[in-house]
Amino acid sequence: MSQKVINDLVIKAAQGKPTPTVPVWFMRQAGRSLPEYRAVRKRGSILDTIKDPRLSAEITLQPVQRYGVDAAIVYSDIIVPVFAIGFGIEVVEGKGPVVPQPFRNDGDLARLRNLEPEIDTSYVLETIKILVEELQVPLIGFAGAPFTVASYLIEGGPSRSYIKTKSLMRSNPALWHKLMERLSRLAIASLESQIAAGASMYQLFDSWAGILSPSEYRVMVAPYSNAIFSALAEKNVPSVHFGVGTAGLLDQMAHSGASAVGVDDRVSLEEAHRLTQGKVALQGNLDPVNILIGHDIAIAESKKVLASSAKSVGYIFNLGHGVLPDSDPRILKSVADLVHDQGAAIRAAASQSQLGEQ
Ligand code: CP3
Repeated sequence: MSQKVINDLVIKAAQGKPTPTVPVWFMRQAGRSLPEYRAVRKRGSILDTIKDPRLSAEITLQPVQRYGVDAAIVYSDIIVPVFAIGFGIEVVEGKGPVVPQPFRNDGDLARLRNLEPEIDTSYVLETIKILVEELQVPLIGFAGAPFTVASYLIEGGPSRSYIKTKSLMRSNPALWHKLMERLSRLAIASLESQIAAGASMYQLFDSWAGILSPSEYRVMVAPYSNAIFSALAEKNVPSVHFGVGTAGLLDQMAHSGASAVGVDDRVSLEEAHRLTQGKVALQGNLDPVNILIGHDIAIAESKKVLASSAKSVGYIFNLGHGVLPDSDPRILKSVADLVHDQGAAIRAAASQSQLGEQ
């Protein structure tokens, strides 16, 4: 099944191709910041909402309709595959993923069987099938990267210091590598199924990988994330590799096989371009806090982000991390409009300067 995409700006930009203006979408564009989301969201766990394809499709479409963004992202969560195979994980409102019996030893590997997406996560695929019929913009599928998913399984929930994760990684590397291998297999199976159902791009969320040093990341994490991009390379679907606090990792992420790298707000896009040696397209990187501060600051800071994108080979405007729940949707709409209005001049200048460098 392939999508009849009419606006393919995000795809082109992710592939490093010229675009007539800058495309934009926002991580966590669906969710609690939207009154229309709060109106339809079922009580109880987000996982129950995700299991309802009609509702999930509606929630996915809400920000596309409201903001006119250039991509939709499937309403699901990075923990859905481990949840679906029965590892024992929940999402607690206001807190995030919680694992009552965290991953500790070799015996726990048995709790991570292979994913059979058509059976285990059929509801996600059903959501995607509904969406590709309705959307005129690309649908982004996604998965959690092995490290970030592992951090939840090992810590038992969100963490500030990642003590248990680092401890397992350093005291039992053999078990760590087995765990990472299992989680990369899960991500590959999930992403393959999302692409087969109609997703025309995907993002790998390694949200917390930035807590590692570049040398530890290289040995303990990169091989597994890279295996995901190489397993999916034959699908010819563009991909984004995202994490927070990754300034020290961007050079490695640019060599992961992803077509684009997501940049958070702690490094400028110019610096990201330098660190990735212009090898990949960039996505990012407005600090989501700017949306909370107010309209004028959000617009002024968005202009700075746009200006700093001028050298990128391909560029997708986004936040440096997800939309914060208290964000005013009207400000996000103004930012999306600004990007579309002013992006044309920025991209024209970008093609000029790339011609000049040739
Ligand atoms: O619009 C979108 O971005 C699509 C849907 C999406 C969700 N989670 C829905 C969701 C995506 C892409 C994710 C990814 C995700 N989930 C990540 C990676 C992105 C990132 O933020 O770094 C991570 C780390 C998770 C794990 C997770 N799930 C967290 C930390 C939380 C927030 C807890 C809270 O309540 O603040 C969740 C729950 C969650 N997933 C919500 C949404 C809209 C909010 C809770 C709700 O509506 O019940």
